[in-house]
Amino acid sequence: MTVITCIDDLKALHRKRTPKMFFDYCESGSYTEQTFRENVSDFAQIRLRQKVAVDMSGRSTASTMAGQPVTMPLALSPVGLLGMQRADGEIKAARAAARFGVPFTLSTMSICSIEDVAAHSPAPFWFQLYVMRDEDFVDAILARAKRAGCSALVLTLDLQILGQRHKDLKNGLSAPPKLTPRNLLNMATKTRWGLEMLGTKRRFFGNIVGHAKGVTDASSLFSWTAEQFDPCLDWSKIARIRDQWGGKFILKGVLDAEDARAAADFGADAIIVSNHGGRQLDGALSSIRMLPEILKAVDGKTEVWLDSGIRSGQDILKALALGAKGAMAGRAYVYGLGAMGEAGVTRALEVMQKELDISMALCGEKRVQDLSRDNLLIPNGFFDSYA
Ligand SMILES: Cc1cc2nc3c(=O)[nH]c(=O)nc-3n(C[C@H](O)[C@H](O)[C@H](O)COP(=O)(O)O)c2cc1C
Repeated sequence: MTVITCIDDLKALHRKRTPKMFFDYCESGSYTEQTFRENVSDFAQIRLRQKVAVDMSGRSTASTMAGQPVTMPLALSPVGLLGMQRADGEIKAARAAARFGVPFTLSTMSICSIEDVAAHSPAPFWFQLYVMRDEDFVDAILARAKRAGCSALVLTLDLQILGQRHKDLKNGLSAPPKLTPRNLLNMATKTRWGLEMLGTKRRFFGNIVGHAKGVTDASSLFSWTAEQFDPCLDWSKIARIRDQWGGKFILKGVLDAEDARAAADFGADAIIVSNHGGRQLDGALSSIRMLPEILKAVDGKTEVWLDSGIRSGQDILKALALGAKGAMAGRAYVYGLGAMGEAGVTRALEVMQKELDISMALCGEKRVQDLSRDNLLIPNGFFDSYA
């Protein structure tokens, strides 16, 4: 039995146990992958200040995100096709998050449907919306998310057109995978994945097939999604969706100070500083590098969360110390899911919470709310080396 000590251990197991097409789908960024790499390498440049002779008893990582109590301020980012990383993946991730006490965000592009996840999750989850041209579809999916008891809507702003990931094109990514000789050969080495997949009926985009006009099978689905992302998304459409939703409303994919100010003035309950994990605009700066400028622009009008590049509790600590109210992680928990299913997602959360707690103690702090810029050592010019 492998001893899991860090997120990288889960990634190694994910790579071993999941068909290459789906591991690559997770572990890739757009074009040259510069932004994907720098999301992680920029965190490494920020260092922590050690403090001694400070009482470190009675520590807590508990906090709130958009008013919701959390055992640590980390939410699971929406990730498409989780049900291809592992059979029933969305249900497994939602359960692990609920039992751990952190929010799970279900992607529009999930394999398990909203209703299915709601029926199997012990706690309400958040729903992420991609705005589609088909307004009837958008109206219907919002109503479905409300009926299923989703406690927040996360609207993604940075994917109205798809960034190109070379690996997905080369691998012929599809859900379920096409049974080509190459795929069959690769899948034959992933026995547990294959057996679990044979045992579930959830193999298509559960929120879309049977719900969007003219989408009845896999081939009509692929042409529908390619055409559907709405290139005309603007603040008036966002306002329409917010009014229709009427509940907690979170904007994801902001990476620019002016956009952040507009999002805060718009009245979002939180904004998520994100470059989609380096999957959209290659060449954009990392989220952590953009965070201080965005916090300044938002000026406390709403909560700001950091997404893209979180691989450890130390990363969460750095984001909080810079002023974020919370963080979100995508790949860190997907590695866990691909490695060990629900137990792997739980393990990823345990690993990061322990890292956050121990690092916080060694920085001389007891509560995540007390972290500040004083806990960090940052290279000169790090935040203003680009203009
Ligand atoms: C495999 C994969 C699929 C994703 N699918 C979605 C999605 O359906 N909706 C969305 O808003 N973001 C999606 N994202 C972006 C994540 O929500 C998140 O912004 C990103 O993973 C953060 O970077 P990290 O992986 O370094 O934590 C996806 C990311 C990955 C890795």
